[in-house]
Amino acid sequence: MDHVTFTQMKDGTKEDYDFLTTHEVAHTKGTADRLLDALVALDEGLSGYKITRLGHSLQSASRAHRDGADIDWVVSTLLHDIGDIYAPYNHDEYAATILRPFVREQCSWCVMTHGDFQLIYYGHHVGADPDKRDRHTGSPYFDDCAQFCERWDQSSFDPDYDTLPLDFFRPLVREVFARTPYDPDVIRTGAREPLVRER
Ligand SMILES: [Fe+2]
Ligand SMILES: [Fe+2]
Repeated sequence: MDHVTFTQMKDGTKEDYDFLTTHEVAHTKGTADRLLDALVALDEGLSGYKITRLGHSLQSASRAHRDGADIDWVVSTLLHDIGDIYAPYNHDEYAATILRPFVREQCSWCVMTHGDFQLIYYGHHVGADPDKRDRHTGSPYFDDCAQFCERWDQSSFDPDYDTLPLDFFRPLVREVFARTPYDPDVIRTGAREPLVRER
């Protein structure tokens, strides 16, 4: 069997859908590598800063790693701006959607809302509300996202920083995206791991 028998989904047989499921499982195993390729594509986007978007992503993740943050934090930080490629107006939500099945809720929530939190640093220069993050007051992760932005995101535009290479992070990305999606032991709703800790 090379392909399914149907031209409309409603006409598919059990054999068709078993065949497709096998293909989809094989396809999902390549998610990590496709994301890593997309990160490299980030390098072409968004000029004007002193470093590229890929450089910013790597620098943010390098800072997270050196702070002793766990793998969920490091991989989420590496991918936090991956939405810039296709979703410049909601890049935070886009990245969070990719991460949500595979990382702790704390991390995907911070990625999802980081655009609002980042405005505290520059909203007053661009006619946006610097306090937009206040809409998230009461979230158990509010302080985590504030710290994420302060330590790893807004700080990571420095061309002189000793940024770790993409190859350093490859095995971490592969490990995270090889997890069982939506595993409650990974998502750990409400759990908070520190951003900074002793190794
Ligand atoms: Fe961002
Ligand atoms: Fe960023």
